[in-house]
Amino acid sequence: MSVRLASVSIAALFVVAGYATLASAKSPQYIGSAGCKCHKAEQAEWSKSSHGKAMDLLLAAKRSKQRNLAMKKAKLDDTKDYDKDAKCLPCHTVGYGEQGGYEDDKSADTLKNVGCEMCHGSGSEFRKIHAANEETFTSFAV
Ligand code: HEC
Ligand code: HEC
Repeated sequence: MSVRLASVSIAALFVVAGYATLASAKSPQYIGSAGCKCHKAEQAEWSKSSHGKAMDLLLAAKRSKQRNLAMKKAKLDDTKDYDKDAKCLPCHTVGYGEQGGYEDDKSADTLKNVGCEMCHGSGSEFRKIHAANEETFTSFAV
């Protein structure tokens, strides 16, 4: 457990360091949740979780009655789609407003929802961590 948590916080440090120094204009880069598909068990669990479906909450056609009640309570229009609303996207997508992050409908589906990279840091930085541990890949969706 402590090892797992350590690796997560190391990832977070890499991302923070990346932003702080702006070492390279290209880094960090989001790759989208599909880029983490080697982790099959985590992918399967995440897809079923609320985080894996967070974007649906912004779409009128996909919201349940209960969700719409929550919308009304929050004084939001439950008949409306909010999937292009800059107020909502930072928490319902990956990296909205950041380099390589979600940008409205120009973006791939794999940057929708609260994806892997929202907690583990950007894929480009994570790839360096994998490489530093001499881990290799047969495929990588960048
Ligand atoms: C600061 C982050 C953040 C922003 C900004 C944000 N959300 Fe959320 N949203 C969350 C979190 C976290 C949850 C899950 C926890 C909860 O339900 O309160 C959530 C849950 C929801 C739910 C389900 C509520 C329920 O009780 O079932 C809806 C619907 C929703 N958001 C719509 C929106 C819309 C529409 C906007 C923009 C007007 C928006 N959110 C902006 C973080 C955010
Ligand atoms: C809401 C935050 C969050 C999201 C989203 C998330 N993770 Fe995690 N993940 C964690 C935390 C916290 C841990 C460490 C604690 C644990 O293992 O439960 C973790 C642990 C892991 C581990 C280590 C498990 C092990 O057995 O050592 C892997 C691999 C992983 N996540 C992959 C993913 C992938 C792939 C996705 C996307 C499909 C993802 N995570 C999405 C927070 C998240």
